[in-house]
Amino acid sequence: MSKGILDNNYAKERESKSELIFRYKVRAQILANAIQKYLEKTENLNILELGAAEGKTILFLNEILPNNKITGLEYSSDLIRQAKNLPQNLNLIQGDATNFDPSVEENTYDVVSALALLEHLTNPVLCIKEALRVLRPGGIFVATCPNPFWDHVATMTGLLKAEQHETEMTKKKMIALANEAGLELLRFERFMWAPISFLPYLKIKISEKNSLKFDKAIHSLRIFNWLFVNQVLIGRKKT
Ligand SMILES: C[S@@+](CC[C@H](N)C(=O)[O-])C[C@H]1O[C@@H](n2cnc3c(N)ncnc32)[C@H](O)[C@@H]1O
Repeated sequence: MSKGILDNNYAKERESKSELIFRYKVRAQILANAIQKYLEKTENLNILELGAAEGKTILFLNEILPNNKITGLEYSSDLIRQAKNLPQNLNLIQGDATNFDPSVEENTYDVVSALALLEHLTNPVLCIKEALRVLRPGGIFVATCPNPFWDHVATMTGLLKAEQHETEMTKKKMIALANEAGLELLRFERFMWAPISFLPYLKIKISEKNSLKFDKAIHSLRIFNWLFVNQVLIGRKKT
């Protein structure tokens, strides 16, 4: 089994660890913001989240943008069994994000996301190609990946478990893979400024919205950009 597949412990940790809760909420907010910016509507969408774990992130996305159909695809059956209280419009299915089951139909989804997933895969381009295949023309793909530099720092300081990531997803690599898969690139942006995203480790509360407001301010200063720990790529399936 790939070391990128997570187990029940991940779901357990996301119940209580404020830094993990903060992280998935920021990722869900980043996805919601992309939907609001790049699609003409925010309801009645068909959304597929790849590597959805126990569904916490799609549950939070559903709070921000209700009235959509959201499917989470996750490899680990153990994690899927940890899913709690998913409403009717949310569904978790077992599958491989690099080789979809035929039940995931082509040209169907308005949005396909891979939040904190591509770095867990040995061959991430396969995942982006699969995403493109099932997106409807004009639909968007949203991927977030931690900055590998800060990933190493977090691993060395014991903030992150060592053995989970398979591929270093630099900005250059993310853009190259998107191009290779045939995605039209809409935006690449860094987010989660380290000094702010460290606050949850100190049990200091910061909302995902305020964290992203800080990011905006830092982007406009243009001097501390190297301190962002996360990155998002947004692309569109050509019409
Ligand atoms: C870091 S978690 C991210 C969870 C969620 N997307 C989020 O943003 O909160 C990555 C998830 O991807 C899953 N995963 C890894 N490889 C996969 C694959 N080939 N197919 C489907 N899921 C996979 C892991 O088991 C894990 O649950």
